[in-house]
Amino acid sequence: MSGLVVTGWGTAVPSRVVTNAELSATLDTSDEWIVERTGIKERRVGSTTSALAIEAGRAALDVAGLTGSDIDLVILATTTGDRIVPATSPTVQDALGISGGAMDLNAACSGFVYGLVTASGLLATGLSRILLIGAETLSKITDWTDRSNAILFGDGAGALVLEATEGPGDLLGWDLGSDGSATNILRCEHGSTIEMDGKEVFRRAVRVMVESSNLALERAGVSIDDIDLVVPHQANLRIIQAACQRLGVSEERAAVVIDRYGNTSSASIPLALVDSLESGRVSSGDLLLLTGFGAGMTWASAVLRWAR
Ligand code: ACO
Repeated sequence: MSGLVVTGWGTAVPSRVVTNAELSATLDTSDEWIVERTGIKERRVGSTTSALAIEAGRAALDVAGLTGSDIDLVILATTTGDRIVPATSPTVQDALGISGGAMDLNAACSGFVYGLVTASGLLATGLSRILLIGAETLSKITDWTDRSNAILFGDGAGALVLEATEGPGDLLGWDLGSDGSATNILRCEHGSTIEMDGKEVFRRAVRVMVESSNLALERAGVSIDDIDLVVPHQANLRIIQAACQRLGVSEERAAVVIDRYGNTSSASIPLALVDSLESGRVSSGDLLLLTGFGAGMTWASAVLRWAR
């Protein structure tokens, strides 16, 4: 059985920056409240999910020194596809000249880690190269008149090229989970906007991230002290802080980009990961813990050894 290695990475965000000050002009809120309660200072808004996915995917292929014709499958983690049918990944496949298959994966904000684990299974059983992308345009399902939601979300994309390798590879352990009895605490019906019980999501998020992270660490045969960088889903800085505290890891070891991008759902983990890679925060041999939660509820964690 083959393992996986990460050989390319890239991101894309819309050029339009929406600051807290801009939101405060039309909503009964303030920069001070938003920063203190969420850690968000600004977010990017605009474009389409396919356009962002294509840009991030192309950047990841460039880093890997590959073209679309080298890729066997594109997995696009998203909750905000361009339309309901068909999926958005075939648009990405066509634009990048990918010769293999294309599938969308919706596990809300856990989608990117679900995609990583799915890719690992497919690489183990015969595929050679997979382009994994998390891309969202949450702005189109956000009620911009509701101050409790509008301040949180943003648009963006992040991508990884994953290649099969002989031996166990870089994914050392993982955990996927779901609790569909919590559907109503965070959802968006057809033609509607996101509805959320923020306090309940917050409470459950910290618990499932910690439990799931601990399972992934145990299956990888490592402890939290071995982890060089935690790459958490970026929903609220206070959720990241609480999860780090309960995991027993210093907050300084967490990748944080929520101040610049807000919550970008499936895109938030790759945006935070690539930011750390590009700022030189990750060295060869480092152990990374990716952990996320989202609507469903779903949750997912993975321990990766950075081998580049
Ligand atoms: N500006 C000013 N005041 C506000 C705002 C705002 N933007 N939003 C809410 N308030 C007010 C409330 O009305 C309330 O006022 P009251 O005390 O007079 O009733 C007060 O602030 C406190 O509100 P809370 O909801 O208790 O605020 P809290 O500290 O819980 O923060 C938040 C709210 C930011 C939504 C938080 O609960 C949170 O981040 N929850 C998790 C959200 C999340 O992770 N969602 C995941 C989405 S993932 C996906 O799949 C898309």
